[in-house]
Amino acid sequence: MAALLSKNNKAGQAACLPRHIAIIMDGNGRWATKRGLPRTAGHKAGAEAFRRIATYCKNLGVQYLTVYAFSTENWKRSADEVGAIMVLLKKYLLEAIDTMEKDQIRLKFFGDMTPISPEIRALAHETDEISDHLPEQDFQANICLNYGGRDEILRAVRTFAAECAAGEKKPEDLDETIFSSYLDSRGIPDPELIIRPSGEQRLSNFLLWQCAYSEFYYTDTLWPDFDEAELDRAIVAYQSRDRRFGGVKK
Ligand code: IPE
Ligand code: IPE
Ligand code: MG
Repeated sequence: MAALLSKNNKAGQAACLPRHIAIIMDGNGRWATKRGLPRTAGHKAGAEAFRRIATYCKNLGVQYLTVYAFSTENWKRSADEVGAIMVLLKKYLLEAIDTMEKDQIRLKFFGDMTPISPEIRALAHETDEISDHLPEQDFQANICLNYGGRDEILRAVRTFAAECAAGEKKPEDLDETIFSSYLDSRGIPDPELIIRPSGEQRLSNFLLWQCAYSEFYYTDTLWPDFDEAELDRAIVAYQSRDRRFGGVKK
């Protein structure tokens, strides 16, 4: 199926391919528990799945991949688990700094980085700078870190309200396009397809504004087992959806 998708894409059917795919990378803990391993082993395998799927999306011609890596609610977990996730993130960022230019992969972060360690913030700043020097049409991965859809909306509202209070903006000028420009996802089209592995069927505070007309795809596969064939199945399901956007088919 992979070959078919790529071939179709090359044959000019790129319009059928989502331009932006978002994934809730869920099921790492259960994947590890099933194998008698510590939950952190699941996060390590999950990071590998991310590398695999990001490369595959890039090769297929998907322009944006947004992944949910750590939510504003995930701080409730043990310090050990949170620490292990941050160590994996640091490792990924160090790798990315060395390879993203060669691989033509832009990397951006969504979320409130304030409570993230200065060391990781500095690395994220570096990947941001490298990304800004890469062509805008290059594949872009957005990593949602300390991200919550409600928090993203609140931060946008606070900034806009402060600009109104300073006399720079007028409340009556606010529309959907302007509001979107205050979000972490500014400048990026809404995801056409949102995938959640692991059998859960909820958003868990992911992309609440951006998902207004996204197609949802759920699978019982746990994120570390999510492979290219799974992504093909999700894309094929997406391609069979009738997207009406509130209208009526002629
Ligand atoms: C997703 O996997 C990764 C994070 C939320 C950080 P989980 O750790 O939630 O895995 P499960 O849902 O417990 O299996
Ligand atoms: C959502 O997964 C967050 C990420 C995948 C980063 P959770 O495992 O935190 O969500 P719930 O608790 O099942 O809703
Ligand atoms: Mg989970």
